[in-house]
Amino acid sequence: MIAESSWNALMRAAWDARANAYAPYSGFAVGAAIRSQSGAVFIGCNVENASFGATICAERAALAAAIAAGEREIVALAIASEAKIPTPPCGICRQCLAELAPRLTIRSYTRNALAELDLETLLPDAFGRSSLD
Ligand code: THU
Repeated sequence: MIAESSWNALMRAAWDARANAYAPYSGFAVGAAIRSQSGAVFIGCNVENASFGATICAERAALAAAIAAGEREIVALAIASEAKIPTPPCGICRQCLAELAPRLTIRSYTRNALAELDLETLLPDAFGRSSLD
C-alpha cells in the first residue's frame, strides 16, 4: 500500500492526463496514472478512433507507458473521470493490468467521489501466464 501523499500525486497525474484525452466520439474523457515500485509515475488517457473498436483506454495507455520505460512492478493505479460514479476499469484493462499486477490497488476518482478497488476482486480467477502451462 502506498502513502496518502503518493495517492494524492497519482490522483493529480490522472486528472492532468485526463485533460489530454482524445474522446471526440464518446465525450467521456478518462485519465490514468500508474505508480511503479521505483516510485515513478506513468500516465495515460483514452485515445479514441473513428474505427471505434481501435480505441485505447486510459488505463492501458498508462500501462503501456510504464512497460515501455522498462517497469515491470506496478503498485498503484489512479483513474480520473467526471462520471456520476467512479469509473471501474473495463474488462480488457482488467485483463491487461492482471498480467503484471493481479493484486493491484486502484483508486477511481470523480470530482466529488472516490472508490477504492482491488483487481483481485474485479477479476477473480484471471487467465494468466500459468494458464498457458
Ligand atoms: N474508457 C477508459 O479510458 N477507461 C475506462 O475505465 C472506461 C472507458 C474510455 C474508452 C472510451 O474512450 C470511453 O471511455 C467510453 O467508453
